[in-house]
Amino acid sequence: MADRNPEILSDTASLRERLSQWRQAGETIALVPTMGALHKGHMALVRAAQGQARRTLLSIFVNPAQFAAGEDFSTYPRRLEVDAAQFAKEDGDLIFAPDTRQIYPPDFVTRIHLEGPATAGLEDKFRPTHFSGVATVVAKLFNLTRPDIAVFGEKDYQQLKVVARMARDLDFETRIVAVPTVREEDGLALSSRNVFLSSNERGVAPRLYAALRQCAQAIENGTDLESALAGARKSLAEAGFVIDYCEARHAESLAPVQSADEGPLRLLAAAKLGRTRLIDNLAVAPNTHA
Ligand code: PAJ
Repeated sequence: MADRNPEILSDTASLRERLSQWRQAGETIALVPTMGALHKGHMALVRAAQGQARRTLLSIFVNPAQFAAGEDFSTYPRRLEVDAAQFAKEDGDLIFAPDTRQIYPPDFVTRIHLEGPATAGLEDKFRPTHFSGVATVVAKLFNLTRPDIAVFGEKDYQQLKVVARMARDLDFETRIVAVPTVREEDGLALSSRNVFLSSNERGVAPRLYAALRQCAQAIENGTDLESALAGARKSLAEAGFVIDYCEARHAESLAPVQSADEGPLRLLAAAKLGRTRLIDNLAVAPNTHA
């Protein structure tokens, strides 16, 4: 791999200019929106982008609109140079790393209002302003860059469904591409927030995914949803997690389901270990025992 340094732009005018040059040359563009502190999960998104478009644009912006007061906006890891070096290794073309005023000038007042998957009672229940902040910045990024495709991770499953619905409802021409969750060998989903885990907590953290797997397997073997979920909640609590939610939902609408027959199902969970909040999710294979 050539370690060609990617160009880094921080203002929207030069971004639009570079992208219009690419477009005039007939080159397709993939956008990978991130908040930086890149890890192998983000890199899987970049590789998926590289495989589906001629040019890959990575955005790095810790979006204040999606953090509520008291969340980790100020301590969220920021390290543009390390990120740029990692993106260079993947032969990425361009990084857009705006400062807050480029995205939200002082007189900015607009927010996207969402329902459907954004009000499913999962993340939104614990972070009520989060998805409108995500959707607003993603809509801005889509308008600024007009990408052919935009790549999102299944790690943030509700976010993926929210963005896909917004893109459809608001007629964005960008195709949303989903990439499966990248995990550590012990099953822990990679996250920029894993750096906040103490070594003890890091040892316990994989049990979130383990509980989801056990739960999915039980459902696949014919156990009813409520007993399977109760088992998962019990193992999480015993491991020391404080659970925000641990639920089975319809995989597309995220609507509540009463039984596995209403699938395809997705298990979704969020839980705190000390001060770190972890989220994860897993598909349930169709129940062939029914
Ligand atoms: P961030 O948390 O940086 O994540 C950027 C993208 O990487 C998201 O699409 C996320 O789902 C994906 N991702 C994170 N960890 C992953 C993993 N272990 N495996 C696969 N994909 C993973 O999500 C955001 O930023 C922001 O909300 C954003 C969409 C950029 C809007 O501000």
